[in-house]
Amino acid sequence: MNQKLTIRKLREGEELAVSRVCKRCIKEINSKDMTKKQVRYLSDYFSAKNIRESLGETRVYVALLGEKIVASGSLCEGRIKAVFVNPSYHKKGVGAKLVRYLEGILKKMGHNSTFVRSSKHAVEFYKKLGFREAEKINSPDVGEIVVMKKKLK
Ligand SMILES: CC(C)(COP(=O)(O)OP(=O)(O)OC[C@H]1O[C@@H](n2cnc3c(N)ncnc32)[C@H](O)[C@@H]1OP(=O)(O)O)[C@@H](O)C(=O)NCCC(=O)NCCS
Repeated sequence: MNQKLTIRKLREGEELAVSRVCKRCIKEINSKDMTKKQVRYLSDYFSAKNIRESLGETRVYVALLGEKIVASGSLCEGRIKAVFVNPSYHKKGVGAKLVRYLEGILKKMGHNSTFVRSSKHAVEFYKKLGFREAEKINSPDVGEIVVMKKKLK
């Protein structure tokens, strides 16, 4: 990874690029822990239209290498949501940089702690970033979710 990673808020018109990153992760990675129906539900949930419509309550951030969106992650009422890194760029530190950036925003907003409803796949990733496992939820829509919590101060 020679190019510098830039992280900023999503701009109008970028929803489709974000949706593609999410859907590729769901298909190639998260689908291993889900039924076909759950994969369809989650893939639909991250359509460009739904991302656009969520922007009132959710702040979506993107990570770019040059002009290319390689990851996205969101904040919603003090929690971190939907961190997805293009599988071609996994294990290169992109996810960690994005989550630390989101944590920084939450701290500035005055939050002392945060949580994320993690996929099964991402539990060890969040542990490496200082989150601890708080609860397991079995969602009929998306399968196993692990609530990961972290103190920010
Ligand atoms: C989980 C995810 C965001 C990690 O992104 P990434 O850019 O590959 O992560 P990083 O390279 O920043 O990894 C940071 C550390 O976590 C480790 N790590 C990353 N993914 C891991 C995994 N699935 N299992 C175990 N460790 C993992 C890395 O090895 C690295 O460890 P190190 O600091 O000792 O070198 C990415 O795999 C992804 O998009 N997954 C699919 C979508 C998903 O499930 N997102 C979570 C929804 S809330």
